[in-house]
This record gives sequence, C-alpha cells and structure tokens, in this order.
Amino acid sequence: MNTPPPGPPLWLLAELTYRCPLHCAFCYNPVDFAQHEQELATADWLRILREARELGAVQCGFSGGEPLVRDDLEELVAEAHRLGYYTNLLTSGVGLTESRAAALKRAGLDHVQLSFQDSTREMNDFLSHTRTFDLKQKVAHILRDQGWPMVMNCVIHRLNIDHIGRIIEMADAIGAEYLELANTQYYSWAFENREHLLPTREQLRQAEAVTDQWRERLAGRMRLFFVAADYHEGKPKRCVNGWGSTLLTVAPDGVALPCHTARMLPGLAFPNLRETSVRSAWLESEGFARYRGTGWMKEPCSSCEHREQDLGGCRCQAFLLAGDPAAADPVCPKSPQHALVEEAVLRVERGEPAVRPLVFRDPKASRKATSSGLL
Ligand code: FES
Repeated sequence: MNTPPPGPPLWLLAELTYRCPLHCAFCYNPVDFAQHEQELATADWLRILREARELGAVQCGFSGGEPLVRDDLEELVAEAHRLGYYTNLLTSGVGLTESRAAALKRAGLDHVQLSFQDSTREMNDFLSHTRTFDLKQKVAHILRDQGWPMVMNCVIHRLNIDHIGRIIEMADAIGAEYLELANTQYYSWAFENREHLLPTREQLRQAEAVTDQWRERLAGRMRLFFVAADYHEGKPKRCVNGWGSTLLTVAPDGVALPCHTARMLPGLAFPNLRETSVRSAWLESEGFARYRGTGWMKEPCSSCEHREQDLGGCRCQAFLLAGDPAAADPVCPKSPQHALVEEAVLRVERGEPAVRPLVFRDPKASRKATSSGLL
C-alpha cells in the first residue's frame, strides 16, 4: 500500500574487492570483511554490468577496498563505458601509476575521486596506517595530467577536524575543483572506533565556520561540501536515498546489497549474483523488499510527519544502536533509544578517555573482531 513498485537501480556500486593497502580506522567495509574473500571473476562482473544497465542503471562506481588492486579494472571500466554508464573510480590512489591512469582514460573512465586522510604527512600516514601522503600528492598530479576534474574526499573525525582549514588549503594548492568533507558515519570500523573518532559539538561548529570562511575566500574556485554528522544534528538522514530505491551495491563476493553494510542485519537474506540475475535480486528478493518505502515502519516512524522525507533514517544505524533494523534511527529525537546517541556525544564532551584502543582495519583485526563478536 505504501510501497510503490521500485524504479531502476540508477546507481550501481561495484565493490570490486575488500583488499586494500590502507588500514583506515574509519573504513566503511564490513568489520568481518576477511570472511568474504572469494572475489567475483571478471566474467561475473561483465555480466553484472550488462544486466544492471539493462535494468536502467546509469552510473557505475568502482570502489573497494582499493579497486586498483584488481588488474581487470581497465577491462571493467571499458565495458561499463561501452554500455553507456557514467563511470567513476573511488580510490586512495595507491597503484595509480601514469600508465594505469592513461589506460583508464582510454577505457573511458569519466571521473575519479581521490581520498585523503589529513593535511600533513604525519596525520595522513597515521590515520591510514601506511606511508601514502607523498604518493597521494603525486597521484593528484597524474589525475590532472589526464584531464580528469580534481575531486577529493576527506573523512572528518575528532583526530583531524581541527585541521579542516589546512585540509582545504592543501586541496586548493593541489588544484581541487571539488572537495567533500564527509563527517564520519558510524558504521563498521568507525563504529568500533567511535569513542576515538566522534568530535565534540564545539569542534563541529568550528569546522563548519572555517569551511564557510574558505567558501568565501575561494570565491567559487573550489566547491566545498561539508557533509553533516547525524549524531550531532538530531536529524535522521534519508540513507542511500531510500532502501532499494536507487543504489545497488555489489560486494566483492557477489552479494547484492541495498547499502554496503546491510549484510550484517539479522533475519535478511541477500542474493548472490553468482547464482541470481540482477533483475531478480533487485525486483524479487526479500532482502531488497523488506525496508522499501514506508510500509514496514512501526511507531514512532509510522505516524511521523517526516516519514516520507527521511524514511525512518538508516536501517544499519537502527540495528547497531537499537538492536532492531526496523526501529526508528536513534539519531532521531523521537526514537526511544535517542539517549544512546546523546550519551555517546556527552561522553566526548566530558572528555572521558576511550576504553578500547583504536583499531586499524586489516584482515587480522577483522578475524579477531569477528571471533570476539565485535561487529
Ligand atoms: Fe545501511 Fe544506512 S548504511 S541503511
């Protein structure tokens, strides 16, 4: 009744691999990623690209992990381009040599988003737990030489938020045309490390003010996007633009998902595209249907005047915080579990020391977290 038939998955996100040379403490890959090592073969991906395009997908993002560790990336980009997708590559830049960049350009890659961790070598390399700062500077020049627009992304959290002015300055010096300052979303590794990463309200206020000053100073030379932090805003986000409405994520092992962390949700089965067509996964699977639209909602969402706008917020966040994927997202003040969010923020405001050490994402930590139930 409340769930209109789904339109096409306009955006296909091909998570080609969970392998990554970086070890970011805020990585959005599932904490148990080491359990899903069986990557799809090139032929599987080529079929998925074709099937998703037939279903109406128009944009294809290649991400990971680090998608450049796949040596078939150029072939996949070329096929996506041939099929008429707008293609983009989400990368740390590690592995993007001049020759690979030229090959990707020839393959028809439209857009590259290069991620940075901070403005200084020390913090960039600490946060990614690898020595990559100098390499990223080099990659930025390679991207410019190939004529791609300079699009950069930096995930913002307590450990780098006070450097936001320097991050913007660095992006400007490199010639960025677009910089996304994305406040950490607390899932996956960022959720495990939340007590280290969550900023104070004052830090956020300052960071927004500095960003606004830079907007004026740059006078349109670079577009700055400050993606708000929902823990502090008290406003649920319309996550992935609505479950099963726009985004089709395909995990490295072929599981089709409405978002990159949905696999952790209990009681849901998601189809594997090794055995199922994209059409069937999108239109017929129970996993995609479960939280489409508003028909699944219970109170307080089902009678809320904002339900059509925010669609109850994020299902993964509801599960992580309230233990129930069908609950209202606890960042919403109407949620019965909203106090959990307030308490997390208050602990930071009070300067309470972290109980657990910062965990960097790597396969060993993944296996350890999986066996100890930290998911
Ligand atoms: Fe899974 Fe929001 S991240 S629904």
